[in-house]
Amino acid sequence: MQRTFSIIKPDAVRKGFAADILSEMDKAGFKIFAIKKMFLSKTQAQGFYAVHAHRPFFDSLTSFMSSGSIIAMVLEKDNAIADLRKLMGATNPANAEAGTIRKQFAGSIEENAIHGSDAEDTAAFEIGYFFAGYELV
Ligand code: CMP
Repeated sequence: MQRTFSIIKPDAVRKGFAADILSEMDKAGFKIFAIKKMFLSKTQAQGFYAVHAHRPFFDSLTSFMSSGSIIAMVLEKDNAIADLRKLMGATNPANAEAGTIRKQFAGSIEENAIHGSDAEDTAAFEIGYFFAGYELV
């Protein structure tokens, strides 16, 4: 079993898509190991996306991510990291395959409904950024 980290982003929560996205994860065989609804500050969003600090969209992205509630979770499954990336679809929903979460629920390359870790080291950082050890038992 492998763990990955995911966020249902403020656009999808605002539009009422959270339950649909959780259902897609369930159908694809992911188990929710930990989950919480949160409201990120701009500073917390900047810390999470620090790897993108030099990108032109950083300020806009971190404002968006702190614009409303998010749902943060740790998911468990064989091959969870790659399988969640596949289920999510391309970053830009215009390029996402039919049936993927972003194709169904995302509105733009920034407001793209869902985040998923892209590798084992980023999953470890992202899980540790959002969840304390006592929340992962
Ligand atoms: P995510 O998978 O969370 O990783 C970084 C995020 O930055 C990405 O999803 C998008 O929300 C956002 N992003 C990536 N590329 C762009 C872009 N070209 N313009 C605006 N936002 C982007």
